[in-house]
Amino acid sequence: MRDLFLVLRKFLSNAKTVATVAPSSRSLSRAIVRGIDWSKVKCVVELGAGTGPVTDVLIQTAPPGVRVIINEYLPEFCAHLRQRFPNAEIVEGDARRLTEILAERGIHQVDYILSGLPLTHFAAADRDAVIDQCAKLLGAGGEFRQLTTVPWLYRGLYRRYFRDVRFRIVLWNLPPGGVYFCHGWIPPEQRADL
Ligand SMILES: C[S@@+](CC[C@H](N)C(=O)[O-])C[C@H]1O[C@@H](n2cnc3c(N)ncnc32)[C@H](O)[C@@H]1O
Repeated sequence: MRDLFLVLRKFLSNAKTVATVAPSSRSLSRAIVRGIDWSKVKCVVELGAGTGPVTDVLIQTAPPGVRVIINEYLPEFCAHLRQRFPNAEIVEGDARRLTEILAERGIHQVDYILSGLPLTHFAAADRDAVIDQCAKLLGAGGEFRQLTTVPWLYRGLYRRYFRDVRFRIVLWNLPPGGVYFCHGWIPPEQRADL
């Protein structure tokens, strides 16, 4: 309940940044973490953690030895995350500076990026910048995963950046949502114009 009110309050003051009136459900949070092959993972990054519904599943699931970086832009959400997950590596900052944020922590390669960012509300150039940085950090073997509360609608948008985009719907969320699973980055010069 406390998380719901915090999200609602931040939505009223920062609608474009928060872009939701409720934290993701447990089902949606599990869906974005499910299926990670932990035997091969050294580092996972979560972007746009909010009050931490995905963070909770992620840090409970990640085996010891895997580095988990939790990123969030709004200071009040970061303070909440630090209180809720005192042992987690919470990084306050703008995901548009992701490469720099990770390099400052000695990280140059990532296996999975789990994004709760409201990318469809970003200016196109900012969205390009975030996704291209993610794809370069992930390399050929990594996976970009994106939460949505508008099932299927943005599949075309993510297919502009990735050759292989799968979608899994999650009905048990308010509103129903899902996860895009993206591989095979398409460099800007090969990308179709919007
Ligand atoms: C739709 S909410 C998702 C929150 C949470 N992951 C969840 O599933 O409930 C989007 C989150 O992205 C954060 N955010 C928006 N722009 C950001 C940016 N440029 N860098 C990092 N976080 C950002 C917002 O503050 C908000 O917490």
